[in-house]
Amino acid sequence: MDLPPPTHAPHPRLTAYYADEPGRLARVRQWFDAAAGDYDRINRLMSFGSGAHYRGDALRRLGVKAGARLLDVGSGTGVIAGLAQKLVGDSGLVVAVDPSSGMLGQARARGVSHIVPGRGESLPFADASFDLLTMGYALRHVADLDAAFREYRRVLRPGGRVLLLEITRPRSAAGTRALRWYMHALVPRLARSRDAAELMRYYWDTIEQCVAPEVILASLQAAGFAGASRKIAFSIFSEYSAARPALSTLS
Ligand SMILES: C[S@@+](CC[C@H](N)C(=O)[O-])C[C@H]1O[C@@H](n2cnc3c(N)ncnc32)[C@H](O)[C@@H]1O
Repeated sequence: MDLPPPTHAPHPRLTAYYADEPGRLARVRQWFDAAAGDYDRINRLMSFGSGAHYRGDALRRLGVKAGARLLDVGSGTGVIAGLAQKLVGDSGLVVAVDPSSGMLGQARARGVSHIVPGRGESLPFADASFDLLTMGYALRHVADLDAAFREYRRVLRPGGRVLLLEITRPRSAAGTRALRWYMHALVPRLARSRDAAELMRYYWDTIEQCVAPEVILASLQAAGFAGASRKIAFSIFSEYSAARPALSTLS
């Protein structure tokens, strides 16, 4: 498939899959609803079983501790929320938010206790409700990055921290070619349904077209976060973190 060159727009329009924004929202939700039962198996295979381990390490690096209140946005089948629940214990709180009822159904089956339908751009929670906010591999589905980050800041208490995990296209052309082949040609074959296979192909296309890391960092800063930074692991895993300032001039 021929794709336009990568853009710096918050959300690339991948017109081979849908014609407009309402079409994108419907398509993405339908894919995740349909692929929900197969999602964890594909993810385990494509990450060679390391996905949950990596997410757990990232939570520990974020400083998730007993008693913390954590919101996991784009929670999907609740891999991050389930791990976080163990770390915060009975004295803490973990809430999983996602627009796909199919994915949230899987999160419930995993044992995630608090599940709320919703999107990053418009979170159904009061100001300063959480100490920590996580989002794993869902940023590229967010239509308006600035709106989402303003929401993240709003629902975090002063001093609260955000962690965003994403896959970023490798810098080298050879690395990009290798990852494209893996994600486009190989990973869809692991899927048990047409929807799941198409979702995995779309996965790569959204990685390839995803907004640049500098834009993500600038958007975090514009939303009122401090100390926005990016760590890279294995040349493709980006970890963005930032804090809501303890004393802030923004309301
Ligand atoms: C690739 S899955 C990631 C699931 C999980 N966070 C993980 O680490 O495996 C992406 C999830 O983002 C959700 N999503 C799509 N659009 C979203 C939005 N605007 N806000 C929040 N989540 C969204 C999808 O329904 C899907 O469950």
